[in-house]
Amino acid sequence: MKSSGGSTAAKRRAGQSAAEAVEDGMVVGLGTGSTAAHAIRAIGDMVADGLDIRGVPTSFQSRQLAIEAGIPLADLDEVDGVDVAIDGADQVAGGQLIKGGGAAHAREKIVDAAADELLIVVDPGKLADRLDHPVPVEVLPAARPVATEQIVALDGESALRSAERKDGPVVTDNGNVVLDCEFGVVEDPANLAAELSAIPGVVEHGLFVDLADEIHVGREDGVDIRT
Ligand code: 5RP
Repeated sequence: MKSSGGSTAAKRRAGQSAAEAVEDGMVVGLGTGSTAAHAIRAIGDMVADGLDIRGVPTSFQSRQLAIEAGIPLADLDEVDGVDVAIDGADQVAGGQLIKGGGAAHAREKIVDAAADELLIVVDPGKLADRLDHPVPVEVLPAARPVATEQIVALDGESALRSAERKDGPVVTDNGNVVLDCEFGVVEDPANLAAELSAIPGVVEHGLFVDLADEIHVGREDGVDIRT
């Protein structure tokens, strides 16, 4: 599983803190990444204790982990709604997020946006004053050249994300590729989000604007909850 380099203890505290919001009878969005994984394991313990919880996974990875943790699963079209989603992030600034380090941001955004409440779990290394992390953009493979041109027109520089362990690009759960797009400091996340969404062939980008309700920042010795 991809790791951001934050301490395991901090990630565990963040994940466990968010999992405390989960109650009997809830449908829970299960985020992707090494921090959200701690929440999934904590929710698995609650299921083992007899709580009736269903999980909606956001990726192949979170689905596998939830199966191992014993969490009954459902697809988004099988539930009436999602009570709470718990997800990680690659950068957090003033409640706005950049996600997609695990190339799962398309499904994450669908589930996270559907949830009544979105709790983000991070270690302190993810916090920034302003967003300046590269923005992952999932595109249809055939759209890569034209999407790249349009990203350049937005003053961005894009790089096709490559697979670490084999030749070739990362392929998402949806069969697409990811362009990691450098824009420097993102002064207006809502505007850039709208511009990226308007590019033909873009499936989804990693700017999550005005979606998070709480940020659980795990530390070695505790958790800060920001609302
Ligand atoms: C996957 C994501 C992850 O939530 C994000 O990359 C954070 O992962 P981690 O907790 O392992 O640092 O957006 O697409």
